[in-house]
Amino acid sequence: MTQAAEIERRDAFDVPPRRIVLADRREVLLRPLRPEDDALYPEFDSHVSDEDRRLRFLVAMREIPQNQIFRLTHFDRKHGRAYAAIEPGSGRLLGVGRVHRLSDDEGEYAVLVRSDLKGLGLGHALMDLVLEGAKELGLRSVLGLILRENVNMIALCRELGFTFSAAGEANLVEARLRLS
Ligand SMILES: CC(C)(COP(=O)(O)OP(=O)(O)OC[C@H]1O[C@@H](n2cnc3c(N)ncnc32)[C@H](O)[C@@H]1OP(=O)(O)O)[C@@H](O)C(=O)NCCC(=O)NCCS
Repeated sequence: MTQAAEIERRDAFDVPPRRIVLADRREVLLRPLRPEDDALYPEFDSHVSDEDRRLRFLVAMREIPQNQIFRLTHFDRKHGRAYAAIEPGSGRLLGVGRVHRLSDDEGEYAVLVRSDLKGLGLGHALMDLVLEGAKELGLRSVLGLILRENVNMIALCRELGFTFSAAGEANLVEARLRLS
């Protein structure tokens, strides 16, 4: 299978790939994240700043460790959904959004966009897919733990209709959305 065909491959039981156009007119393909995408992570991670990695994982780390990359790409689709933003020409990974089940009713989401591509609408597009995925999983609500200083994620959640409450730790807020 050619790389292009591979990227376009329709995954059973999940959303068909879709193309979006970012604010800088670049085209991006959104599709389910696959186990073999673990190979794309190191190049993606090299374009993620230490600060953005900390905002995503809530702890400082110089790179995403291999064992964590494995867990992020090899998950049970009965309990999670994840979506990759792919650069059509190169097949490079540009961003990832995911949700995994915490209980029968609720899931936790996370999203990470390449640092040089922030503010172009990719995070929003990935969150839209994540919310679709959460509904597919039969979840009634999603929550995210967000560092208080993460104004971009808080703004994005506000736009999507999330409500906010104090989290267990003082530096975190809990953002929750009921899914209709
Ligand atoms: C948070 C994050 C996912 C947002 O993705 P993004 O592609 O930059 O966001 P978008 O361009 O889709 O913007 C969505 C909304 O976020 C807010 N936003 C994004 N960038 C912003 C900025 N520089 N200043 C203010 N608000 C901003 C706006 O409300 C924006 O709404 P708009 O689309 O109507 O302008 C991205 O910045 C990121 O990966 N950050 C590091 C990791 C992280 O914080 N993950 C979230 C923890 S779960």
